[in-house]
Amino acid sequence: MKQIDRLRAHGLFEARVPRYTSYPTAPGFAPEIGSVEQTEALSALDPRDPVSVYLHIPFCERLCWFCACRTQGTKTLSPVESYIATLEQELALLKRILPAGLRMGRMHWGGGTPTILPPELIHRLAQAVKAVIPPTGDWEFSVEIDPTMVDRHKITALAAEGMNRASLGIQDFDSKVQNAIGRLQPFDVTRHCVEDLRAAGIQSLNADLVYGLPHQDITRLDDTVSKVLDLAPDRIALFGYAHVPWMSKRQRLIDEKSLPKEVERFHLAEYAATRFSDAGYRSIGIDHFSKPDDGLARAMETGRLRRNFQGYVDDSCSTLIGLGASSVSRLPTGYIQNASATPAYVQRIEAGELAGARGHMMSHTDLLRARAIEMIMCDLQLDFAELSREFGALAEALRPENALVIDRFDGMVQVRHDGFEILPEGRALTRIIASCFDAYAPMNGRYSQAS
Ligand SMILES: C[S@@+](CC[C@H](N)C(=O)[O-])C[C@H]1O[C@@H](n2cnc3c(N)ncnc32)[C@H](O)[C@@H]1O
Ligand code: SF4
Repeated sequence: MKQIDRLRAHGLFEARVPRYTSYPTAPGFAPEIGSVEQTEALSALDPRDPVSVYLHIPFCERLCWFCACRTQGTKTLSPVESYIATLEQELALLKRILPAGLRMGRMHWGGGTPTILPPELIHRLAQAVKAVIPPTGDWEFSVEIDPTMVDRHKITALAAEGMNRASLGIQDFDSKVQNAIGRLQPFDVTRHCVEDLRAAGIQSLNADLVYGLPHQDITRLDDTVSKVLDLAPDRIALFGYAHVPWMSKRQRLIDEKSLPKEVERFHLAEYAATRFSDAGYRSIGIDHFSKPDDGLARAMETGRLRRNFQGYVDDSCSTLIGLGASSVSRLPTGYIQNASATPAYVQRIEAGELAGARGHMMSHTDLLRARAIEMIMCDLQLDFAELSREFGALAEALRPENALVIDRFDGMVQVRHDGFEILPEGRALTRIIASCFDAYAPMNGRYSQAS
């Protein structure tokens, strides 16, 4: 049987499985868990452990048709300004709750488009966060940057506030693909943005690319990959296009007939991955690449690679505090998501309470399954020796799933040490294999396709 047929037989093209940026995944969060649990968990944080902070800016000047992110379009700054004022109020609430002396080891601004903020709002927001949770001496501050929505003044302001990592949205450089996804972005604009970032001293750059977009073929993707390699980012994320028009209504503007078919899509991903590894990048997890001396590659080599809502990270902070509409906090007791719609989030904060609206309290078994799934997604293996070190005898609860995977994915995984490792020919099945350890998600839920 050909490799592609073997993958098909394992459900690669039919399975709808999560990307596992959390376990359980956000659609499984319950509305009974909210600000009460959020307040309790935040007030009980150990101030000796630095935290990560995620800040969500749900605004864009343009709304790209392919995008599944939670964001809204605006042509004026006034909704953005009033949102920043709400974030300041949220921080003031946090200040009353958080233990004294808590420090921030990481901060990430995502969206939407954080670079919609003009320099004065960048300074105001960064200062507001630092006043409540001061950064550690070696903190990292990363920002998602739309190269068409940024200029030197904004980059200078972000650098002055400590930004030392930038993630650029690229997706694809081909004009036919860009037209079909409603996102025009000339290569020169992106190149100037990269030059400005490097001139401002930002050494660590990530590029976001997407495969499976309308009209993409090997020739077009090859050209995009060459241009990206010219820019020499330290990290590359190569996301499979998630076509989920039932969740993201603007995707209805995309002509489904122009989307690459499943097998083409698979070949696009394989082709780009081969080019990146030929260029010296290390493959990280299921969809990232990094230069060998980058923190992600080093984390992978030493078993410290982790996965959270930002994708693959080398972040050692176990607590993540999410600020803004729809952001998720990962607290020692579980996950809490702020109200998703901006008006609902604003209403809660203005009423003087935290905006937690849904969540999940983690049992010991949840924590065990979450770690097993993270290990599979990050290290492409399951290691019972490591699970036992972290969870003791409880780790044995996953033996039936382990046996099932070894039996069902014969030839795609192999028994290794005490557990299994995913072979290169089974890599594309990683999300499906991880889902075997998921006690909540039934197969074929409303997620994007696994390939
Ligand atoms: C918040 S957005 C990017 C930041 C910035 N607004 C920009 O457009 O450059 C984060 C990334 O999510 C990815 N993304 C968004 N929608 C996607 C989809 N439907 N499928 C796969 N990846 C997607 C894109 O690669 C995008 O760069
Ligand atoms: S890709 Fe970026 S700019 Fe485009 S809609 Fe999504 S968040 Fe906004």
